Amino acid sequence: LLVDKGNYRHFMAKEINEQPEVVSHTLANYLDMATAQVRFPDLGLDLAQISRVTISACGTAYYAGLVAKYWIERYARVPVDIDVASEMRYREAPLPENGLAVFVSQSGETADTLATLRYCKANKQRIASIVNVRTSTIARESDAALPTLAGPEIGVASTKAFTCQLSVLACLAIAIAKARGAITKEQEIALVTALTEVPRHIAAILRQDEIYLSVAQELAKARDVLYLGRGSSFPIALEGALKLKEISYIHAEGYAAGELKHGPIALIDENVPVIVVAPEDDLFEKTVSNLQEVAARGGQIILISDAAPEKAGCTPAAHIQMPKIDSFIAPLLYAVPIQLIAYHTAVQIGTDVDQPRNLAKSVTVE
Ligand code: G6P
Repeated sequence: LLVDKGNYRHFMAKEINEQPEVVSHTLANYLDMATAQVRFPDLGLDLAQISRVTISACGTAYYAGLVAKYWIERYARVPVDIDVASEMRYREAPLPENGLAVFVSQSGETADTLATLRYCKANKQRIASIVNVRTSTIARESDAALPTLAGPEIGVASTKAFTCQLSVLACLAIAIAKARGAITKEQEIALVTALTEVPRHIAAILRQDEIYLSVAQELAKARDVLYLGRGSSFPIALEGALKLKEISYIHAEGYAAGELKHGPIALIDENVPVIVVAPEDDLFEKTVSNLQEVAARGGQIILISDAAPEKAGCTPAAHIQMPKIDSFIAPLLYAVPIQLIAYHTAVQIGTDVDQPRNLAKSVTVE
């Protein structure tokens, strides 16, 4: 299989820019666009009877699963247990009757994820996997393989596979919510309609390039960077920190905004940029108060938000303006600026963006 970079300098840039198209393809596979309803494949168990969802994955795929925990618990009202596969495989978690186990993997070959899948299978869970490589081992060993239609991902740092994983997981959350009667038909239509608007919003985000160049210039000088988010933006903060570490080698940490005062606030000074993932949702005010704690200590804030900067109650060093959207789809959109920040910072520093040192695209050893 031959994939080239087209007119892009790196595969990563190409893959970031493919997102409107591949997210759209992926969504079309799980939604009925005409009626704005979910059209989810049969998982071989009654979704209304699921007692618990257990999600396991590694790396970026794990953060997609963590977003799904927020979605499934909030909209479907089903408890979700999630862990990185390397922990889940050995902690001998008791698994319930009528449990659904979900595995998320771009390659479908990650050793720890596969081992956890086998554990869950041996413990009588229904196995659904969200995979990008349809012929992979994880896909083959699952009761239901739910493809992401991202196309081949070459850059070691995952981008388009992540937003496609989120797309499938969002549809799964709606499908479970619908089956359990946890949402009304009107709510289903509203959630699906919001999802169908994601590709158009991502395309708009991708058109604003300049802000990322100036943010990257600042970040390239930093030794440490902190990412904060709350609710479903917390996994996006974690993913942002992972992306930056992976390709720019700058130390970065993602933190739940509310945990700031339990430790990382000790690190804040004018040399530590703080990237805040803050859609104007029902938790926005809480995040704003964390932001002010950062500002009061001289931290440089890079705000990613749809809210006007005045609402943040401080003057951010940079403000990445996001579109106004239903907060359900925020993780899908806010994933994009954090990819662009990492990408442009790495380019600025001059690292090998597509093949960062010490990392592999697929980890088939323990
Ligand atoms: C490696 C890759 C990551 C990926 C992780 C899980 O660490 O570098 O980009 O998120 O493995 O891989 P998977 O193929 O299971 O999604």
